[in-house]
Amino acid sequence: MRIGIIGGGNVGTALAGAFARAGHAPVLLRRDPAAPGAAPGATPSAPLAPLDGAEAYVLATPYAAAVGALSAVRPGAVPVIDATNPLEMGADGLGLSIGHSTSAAEEIARALPGLRLVKCFNTAGFGVLAEAGRFAPKPVMFAASEDDEARALALRLAADIGFDPVDAGPLRAARLLEAHAMLWIELAAKRGLGRDIAFALLRA
Ligand SMILES: NC(=O)c1ccc[n+]([C@@H]2O[C@H](COP(=O)([O-])OP(=O)(O)OC[C@H]3O[C@@H](n4cnc5c(N)ncnc54)[C@H](OP(=O)(O)O)[C@@H]3O)[C@@H](O)[C@H]2O)c1
Repeated sequence: MRIGIIGGGNVGTALAGAFARAGHAPVLLRRDPAAPGAAPGATPSAPLAPLDGAEAYVLATPYAAAVGALSAVRPGAVPVIDATNPLEMGADGLGLSIGHSTSAAEEIARALPGLRLVKCFNTAGFGVLAEAGRFAPKPVMFAASEDDEARALALRLAADIGFDPVDAGPLRAARLLEAHAMLWIELAAKRGLGRDIAFALLRA
């Protein structure tokens, strides 16, 4: 699948590598495709603009840059997988800037009506996204969307790169998934567990 990854940072680069190893064709969409990034490596780069033949986009920018970046990419009817988290530095350190009654995903969807948005790939650190296969049992990856096809597509991609894919329902579940990401950050950064951790869903 030809996947336009918006943002050549930690997450964009990690997912690009994982998708390529799974047989997909990722392209990093970057403000300056020639600029040195977070080791884009062998993944081709293109400008921040519509990608010919794109079958999916992944949004991997800071939340504050999301609407601007999507406005440049103009996804049209192509599903967009939103990996952002609305992070900000507060008195207690890094936290969520919004939550409980809305989410980054819902705010992006509100700002860009018609976008086929699915929340996914936001609940694990970039090192986990890069190589989920290092973990046993498989790390869980949730997807939430109003669009059943877009949600199914994100779950297929998650499975392709080594995650246990779990349907989390409509887009408002992004409120829970963004908080879930914050728990990962707390455990990894503040509680000393480090970045080599991932959540799994166990079934009796
Ligand atoms: N770090 C993690 O482990 C992790 C895990 C899950 C989710 N997330 C979320 O995923 C998103 C990306 O995280 P990251 O760690 O990859 O961040 P990052 O390393 O800072 O990369 C973000 C990339 O977004 C692009 N960007 C920045 N400002 C932009 C703007 N104004 N307009 C368009 N593009 C812009 C840049 O790519 P170019 O220079 O190539 O244009 C930049 O490298 C964030 O929302 C984060 O909360 C992070």
